[in-house]
Amino acid sequence: MNKVSIINELQEIISYGKRERDKILNSSENINFSLYEKVTAFEEDKVRKSEHSTDNWQNKIFYADNIKVMEFLLKNGYKGKIDLIYIDPPFFSETNYNRRIILNDGEKDIFIKHFAYEDRWRKGIKNYLEELTVKLYLMRDLLSSKGSIYVHLDWHIVHYIKVLMDEIFGRENFVNEIIWSYKSGGVGKRHFSKKHDTILFYSKTKNYIFNVQKEKSYNRELKPYRFKGVKEFKDDIGWYTYVNTKDVWNIDMIGRTSKERVGYDTQKPRKLLERIILSSTDENSIVADFFAGSGTTGVVAEKLKRKWIMSDLGATSIAVMKERLIEERANRFNLYRIPHEEDDSIDFKIKIKKRCPCDFFNECLEIEIEDYEIKDISKLPVDRKYWLKIKDILEKDSFEFVEYVAVDTDYKGDFFSFKQEHYRTYGNKRGSFNKNILLKLEKNLKKRNIAVQLIDVFGNEKIKIINL
Ligand SMILES: C[S@@+](CC[C@H](N)C(=O)[O-])C[C@H]1O[C@@H](n2cnc3c(N)ncnc32)[C@H](O)[C@@H]1O
Repeated sequence: MNKVSIINELQEIISYGKRERDKILNSSENINFSLYEKVTAFEEDKVRKSEHSTDNWQNKIFYADNIKVMEFLLKNGYKGKIDLIYIDPPFFSETNYNRRIILNDGEKDIFIKHFAYEDRWRKGIKNYLEELTVKLYLMRDLLSSKGSIYVHLDWHIVHYIKVLMDEIFGRENFVNEIIWSYKSGGVGKRHFSKKHDTILFYSKTKNYIFNVQKEKSYNRELKPYRFKGVKEFKDDIGWYTYVNTKDVWNIDMIGRTSKERVGYDTQKPRKLLERIILSSTDENSIVADFFAGSGTTGVVAEKLKRKWIMSDLGATSIAVMKERLIEERANRFNLYRIPHEEDDSIDFKIKIKKRCPCDFFNECLEIEIEDYEIKDISKLPVDRKYWLKIKDILEKDSFEFVEYVAVDTDYKGDFFSFKQEHYRTYGNKRGSFNKNILLKLEKNLKKRNIAVQLIDVFGNEKIKIINL
C-alpha cells in the first residue's frame, strides 16, 4: 500500500464527515430498532422504584453498529439531549482483542481467549479517520448545550483526532488533554516505556457542566506548610492538602488480580469513569458510551444515579455488560436490537420436572436445562489451538460453557422480560451452575408461555419456549 500523507487528506476527511452526516440525517430511512429484552436484576417483589421514575426513563443498551444507534437516537428525539459522551473506540492498534475466560476441565482450571473485537484497518488510516469523523459529527448533534465529550485514545492516532476535533467541535471548545498514566504494560528498550493514554475533552458550548473534583497533593518534603487558611492533612506517606484535580491522572489499570476484572481486554477502571462522570454531569444527566465494551461507563453511571445509554456491536461485549449490570443489581434496563436471524450455533432442551401448588396464590414449576450443545466448534471465535480442549470439556460437562440462564415467566412473544436469572459470578471466580430452576408462577393464569434464555461464554444466545 502506498504511504498516504495524512496531513494533505485532513480537509477531505472533514468534508467526507460532514457529507455523510448530512446524508444520514436527511435520509428518510427509519432504523428499525425494537425492544428485545427488559432486564430486571431484582426478584420482582423487590424491584426498586426507578430513580428516574418522574420521566419514565429506562436505561438502554443497543446491540448494533453505533452509527445506526446514533442515527436512531437523532431521529427519535435525542438531538441535543445528552450531557456526556465518553468513547473509548479502537485505537488504530492493528490488533485483535479478546475476552479471557476460565473453564474447568474436571481437574484444573484452564484459560481460553476468545475473540471480542477487531482493531484492524485494511483500508488504512484514512478510512479509520473518516469513519470516526462521521461519528464525531453525529455525537456533536447528540450533545446538549451544556454537554461534553471525552474521546479516549493513545499515541497511535490521538494527534490526528485532536486536529479533527478542533474542526468538528471548534478549537474554542477544547477543554483538556487528559493524560491517564499507569504502571502496567510493556517496557521499552529502544524507547521510553509507553505508560499513558490520552483523553481529549471538548465541550459543546462555553456553558458546559463542570463540577470541580479534588485530589490529594503531597507537600514538598511531606512536611506541613502551615499557610494561613489552608487545611492540611496527614496520612502514612506524609502531609498533604486538597487541590483541584490536575490533567494528569494516576489511576491503576485493571490488573490480573483486580476485583473489577471481567476478562474483557481494554476494560477501563471504574475510577477513571467516576472522575469523568462526576466532573461533567449532574444527577439528571444522560451519559452515553457508543463503544461500550464491557460496560464500565454504564456500570459507573448506574452507581452514580445517572441515566445511561450504551452500545456495542460485539455479542461478547453485550453478554459481559449485561451480566455486570445484573451482578451490580442495576435498575431495570432495556436491550434493543435490529430484527435479526435466530442464532442457531448452540442448542439446549428443557425438561419439566415438577409442577405443584406452593401456596394459595402460586404454583411451583421445576425445570431442568438439558443437553446444551455447541453445534460446530470450528465456528467459535477462538483460535484452533483451543478446539481439542473445548471438545474435551464439552464431553465431560458441556454446562461449563453456560454463562447464564434467564427466565421470562410470562412471555408474550414480542420481547423477553428478564425476571429470574441464574448465572455464575464473572471474572476470576466462576461459581457453579445449577441446571435445576424452581419457578414461582401465579396460579390463576390459565395459559402462558415461559421463555428460557441461555447465553454461553462466547456470547451465543438461544431462547426456548415452554407452553403451559
Ligand atoms: C476499547 S473497547 C471499549 C472498552 C470499554 N471502555 C470498557 O471499559 O470495557 C472498544 C469497543 O468498541 C466496540 N466497537 C468497535 N466498533 C464499533 C461500532 N462500529 N459500533 C459499536 N461498537 C463498536 C468493540 O466491540 C469494543 O467492545
